[in-house]
Amino acid sequence: MSILVTDIGELVTNDPAADDLLGVRTDAALVIEDGLVAWIGDAAAAPAADERVDARGRAVLPGFVDSHSHLVFAGDRAAEFDARMAGQPYAAGGIRTTVAATRAATDEVLRANVVRLVTEMHRQGSTTVEIKSGYGLTVADEARALRIARESTPETTFLGAHVVPAEYAEDPAGYVALVTGPMLAAAAPHARWIDVFCERGAFDDDQARAVLAAGAAAGLRGRLHANQLGEGPGVQLAAELGLTAVDHCTYLSDLDVAALRESGTVATLLPGVEFSTRQPYPSGRRLLDAGVTVALASDCNPGSSYTSSLPFCIALAVREMGMTTAEAVHAATAGGAAALGRTDVGRLTVGARGDLVLLDAPSHRHLAYRPGVPLVAEVASEGAFRTARTLAE
Ligand code: NIG
Ligand code: FE
Repeated sequence: MSILVTDIGELVTNDPAADDLLGVRTDAALVIEDGLVAWIGDAAAAPAADERVDARGRAVLPGFVDSHSHLVFAGDRAAEFDARMAGQPYAAGGIRTTVAATRAATDEVLRANVVRLVTEMHRQGSTTVEIKSGYGLTVADEARALRIARESTPETTFLGAHVVPAEYAEDPAGYVALVTGPMLAAAAPHARWIDVFCERGAFDDDQARAVLAAGAAAGLRGRLHANQLGEGPGVQLAAELGLTAVDHCTYLSDLDVAALRESGTVATLLPGVEFSTRQPYPSGRRLLDAGVTVALASDCNPGSSYTSSLPFCIALAVREMGMTTAEAVHAATAGGAAALGRTDVGRLTVGARGDLVLLDAPSHRHLAYRPGVPLVAEVASEGAFRTARTLAE
C-alpha cells in the first residue's frame, strides 16, 4: 500500500545531510510505502500512489519523539500542584502519594490511563513515546507496570529506583538490593532501558552506579534522571558511563556541560517540569552552543509535569530556554530519537518510518508563534493516518 502526501508547503525532513538544521524543503511531496518513507521530492515530480493526501500548502514534520514519560499511574496530584503555585517547593517525596494509588489500582485502571495518555500524546503529534515504570516499587507492581506499558510502546524503561518506598525508609540499601535483584529480574523481560532518579531525596551516585551496572548485566541500556532539583553528580556519572541520555539537566555546572559534550550523551530537557514546579528553566542555548545534543520531552507524570504536549514544550523552549524554533522542533523530533538511540524515527528521509505530523499552519515556526493552539491537524504512524478525513479530501 502506498500513500502520496503532496502539495506540502514546508516539509521538515531533519535530513542530517542537509545544509540547514531541519532539512526544510518547499513545494515537496513524499510517498510512504508499507509504512516507510519511499520517496521524497518536488510535488511536481511526484509518482502515482494507491492513496493521496493533499496537504494544501501546509507544513509536514516528522512525528514528535517523546523520550521521557511516566504514564503507568493512578490518581492525580492537582492539590499538590495548587500548593506549589501558592509557594510550596516541589519535593521528590510526592512520588509516594502516586505509588500508593498505583499499587491499589487494578490492571484495567492502569491500562486505561496509559491508553488515554498515549492517545492524548498522539493527537498532539507524538508518534514515538517512551514510558517508565516507577510508581509500583514492588517486584510485582514494577513488572505489572512494564507489562502494561509494553502494550503501548517498545520503548519501556524500568525505574524501580525512582524513590525509596515508605516500607524501606529505614533500609535504603535493602531496597537497592531488591531493585538490582528480584525486581530487575522480573522487570527486564518487559524493558529496554533502566533509569535511576539520581538526586538528593532519591538515590545517590553510588546507588545509581549499582543499579545501572545490574541493569547493564541484564541487557538493559542506561539513562538517568539527574540535576533536576540542584547540582549533583548525576550528569557527570551519565557522561562517564556513556549513557545514551540524561534527563532534566536543570542545574548544570560548566564541568557538567563539558562532560556532556565529551561523551555525546543527549541532554533531555523537560520544560513542563519547570513550568509546573516554578523552577528556573535550564538554558538550551548554553548546551547547544557547547555542542551538546538536546532533546525535548514532556516527562508526562501526575507530579512534576502533567502535560502530554510536545507543542507546548517547544513553545516553552523557544520562549524560556533560548532556543530557536528550528532548534526546538529538532530537539522534539531528531533529538528525542537520539535520546532513544533511534535513527528510524525523528526524520523524514527515505527508509525512515512514515511517522508524520501535518500542521494547520504553513511553517513549523507556528508551533511556538501560536502557543496553546491545537495546530496538529493530522498524524500518521507508519503511514496510517489518524483519521480518514484527510484521505477523503
Ligand atoms: O521526572 N524526577 C523524578 N520523577 C518524575 C516526577 C515524578 C513525580 O513527581 O511523581 C520526574 O519529574
Ligand atoms: Fe521523569
